[in-house]
Amino acid sequence: MELTIDNIRLRKPQPEDAAALAKAANNKKVARNLRDGFPSPYKLQDAKEFIQKCIDENLTNFSIFHNDVFCGLIGLTITQDACLTRVEMGYWLGEAHWGKGIATKAVRLVSEYGLKQLGHEKIVAVVLEYNPGSMRVLEKAGYTFKGYTKETGSKHGVPHDEYHYEITS
Ligand SMILES: CC(C)(COP(=O)(O)OP(=O)(O)OC[C@H]1O[C@@H](n2cnc3c(N)ncnc32)[C@H](O)[C@@H]1OP(=O)(O)O)[C@@H](O)C(=O)NCCC(=O)NCCS
Repeated sequence: MELTIDNIRLRKPQPEDAAALAKAANNKKVARNLRDGFPSPYKLQDAKEFIQKCIDENLTNFSIFHNDVFCGLIGLTITQDACLTRVEMGYWLGEAHWGKGIATKAVRLVSEYGLKQLGHEKIVAVVLEYNPGSMRVLEKAGYTFKGYTKETGSKHGVPHDEYHYEITS
């Protein structure tokens, strides 16, 4: 299954993506905006394990290709408890691919897929306070800013405000 728009193509991560994934991910400027679970440094083995988990668990993650070049990852994380299903958008691009409108198009594609094809009623996204680029991506992709929560996020033990966004079907 592939999602495409213009020169952007998304497909499920495959073992052959591992080297390009590790190379793009092994960058502190990428890791600083993501949760602490994102490895930094990011090794080839981390990429292999991540891709295998995506395959084994059929996760809703996609490798992003721009003009057929691997440039990053995007996906929906679904968490469920007794009374709530939470669907969260996440994405990152290798630094060489920033500033070309790629994330905005990828977020639009996966949001539409999640809402229309998978039937989710709402997708949320959470951004650390110091990441205006990601906030702008979400706004351009049709997400609504819902407010911020004081110091509910943290990076390497330092608390940060989190900015909450959502899009609904
Ligand atoms: C944040 C990130 C996804 C943006 O991706 P991108 O493809 O460069 O974004 P786009 O080119 O689609 O840009 C969308 C808008 O954001 C703006 N933008 C991008 N980076 C920005 C920055 N650092 N500061 C302010 N605005 C920024 C762009 O100017 C554009 O707005 P405009 O059309 O009004 O000019 C990318 O920088 C990245 O992967 N960073 C590291 C990981 C990360 O932050 N992931 C998101 C975690 S919530």
